Amino acid sequence: MDFSFQKEKEIKTDLLVVGCWKEKKLSGLAARLDPKITPGLGQVLTREGFEFKAGSAKLIHTNLQEVGASNLLVFGLGEKSKADAQLIRRLGAAAVRWGNEVKAKKVSVEFLSLPQKMATLPFSELVVEGSHWGSYAFDQYKSEENCSKKTVERIEVLTQETPVLRHGLAVGSLVGEATNFARDLANTPSSDMTPRRMVYEAKKVARHPQITVEILDRKACEKLGMGAFLAVAKGSVEPPYLIHLVYRPKGRPRGRIAIVGKGITFDSGGLSIKTAQGMETMKFDMSGSAAMVAVLRSLPGLQIPLEVHGIAAMTENMPSGGADKPGDIARTIIGRSIEILNTDAEGRLTLADAIPYAIRQKPDFVIDIATLTGACVVGLGDRCAGIMGNDQKLIGQLVASGKLMGEMLWQLPLVEEYKEDLKSQVADVKNVGNRYGGAITAGLFLEQFVKPETPWAHIDIAGPAWAEKGTDLVPKGGTGFMVPTLLHFLLHLKRS
Ligand code: BES
Ligand code: ZN
Ligand code: ZN
Repeated sequence: MDFSFQKEKEIKTDLLVVGCWKEKKLSGLAARLDPKITPGLGQVLTREGFEFKAGSAKLIHTNLQEVGASNLLVFGLGEKSKADAQLIRRLGAAAVRWGNEVKAKKVSVEFLSLPQKMATLPFSELVVEGSHWGSYAFDQYKSEENCSKKTVERIEVLTQETPVLRHGLAVGSLVGEATNFARDLANTPSSDMTPRRMVYEAKKVARHPQITVEILDRKACEKLGMGAFLAVAKGSVEPPYLIHLVYRPKGRPRGRIAIVGKGITFDSGGLSIKTAQGMETMKFDMSGSAAMVAVLRSLPGLQIPLEVHGIAAMTENMPSGGADKPGDIARTIIGRSIEILNTDAEGRLTLADAIPYAIRQKPDFVIDIATLTGACVVGLGDRCAGIMGNDQKLIGQLVASGKLMGEMLWQLPLVEEYKEDLKSQVADVKNVGNRYGGAITAGLFLEQFVKPETPWAHIDIAGPAWAEKGTDLVPKGGTGFMVPTLLHFLLHLKRS
């Protein structure tokens, strides 16, 4: 899809999209179109019972001779005081969805002036993000006749181009594409999305001159002493790999950061095996690493002035005669030993090696993203991630970016007292606590592999990385959660 600007006077389009606020009914372009449509746009809408509710849409395709458009979509915006960025993204999503519905090649969207409180994100960015997110479909494995039909080639925003709007268009496009790329990675079945395939994807990202990649195979990881990561990999016939991507800005970097993503390409639970139903979506257990790779891929386009390290320890978690067993003890890269009491708590084992490896790159701070605990889904549901860490400023900035990008993050406390639960009789730490507060004990476990002087945030995306139902902007399946938030966060760091 291409995006551009066009003057309102020169409308010639397959689908024209206008927005209408509830209290104004017809204003802006809708008011100007009103007399051109018989018996008047307002009358048509009244006849159809259109209520201008936020997110509602009405397609009109007759009596449009004088409008310059073959179809007209009226998008309800609700009350202006209640408008937010998600509403405008939904408008973008509706524009493409209805465009495809009426087989439009070109869709033209009215430019709307937004309430002052929304000044941080330009209209163009929101429309473009929404059109990417809303039109996503994972069709690669379907026969032609079952694929969603996509006809829309161009979306134009009806206004005079300005530098801010042009930048918004570019950012929206990068964020939208990156999110959809992460969705593709997570939706691809584990038989194809193996650790080796993720290596291939990382190498493709590293074709850009500003990005390099180092791949550590089993032997190299052994040499470094990554016993916890390799314990998880023992049960699988797929070889494990640690992926280390680095993006370097053109000028002198203004800082160095590390993003670590959990990369379990399939989580069967291992010998502590899951139920059949519990495994159904477990191809998504590499969503953290997918977000990391998608973010790194977009950094050159966004000209982020930071050195960014992206790290993922990729493996399957499988039961077999060679698998790690409850009661085994693994020694990590920093020498700390872990008693593995539940092989299904494997994500934290891989992170216990990957996070210290990231810290060795001497980042200013490290963020890990992981589909880590079912407990987090129980506590916060599937639309909200849990965030924990040792640096309130970092956490606050991530939560704020999430809010702007429509991704909810909620801080959980790292309750000191629960550390007791992780004490082992035979090793330095156990990999599971007791039944309660599972998301927090997982965070406390990880904390033991972070240096206190390194600012660190842990984001548990077990809920929102997968959409069971799907919405206008997030279709069913892998969601690409955290890609928008991380990109916004990194862009914002650039300015401050
Ligand atoms: N990948 C899962 C977490 C998960 C579970 C995500 C359900 C989404 C839905 C993780 O590896 C896991 O199995 N965690 C266990 C930990 C437990 C054994 C302490 C869990 O949450 O049940
Ligand atoms: Zn597990
Ligand atoms: Zn897992």
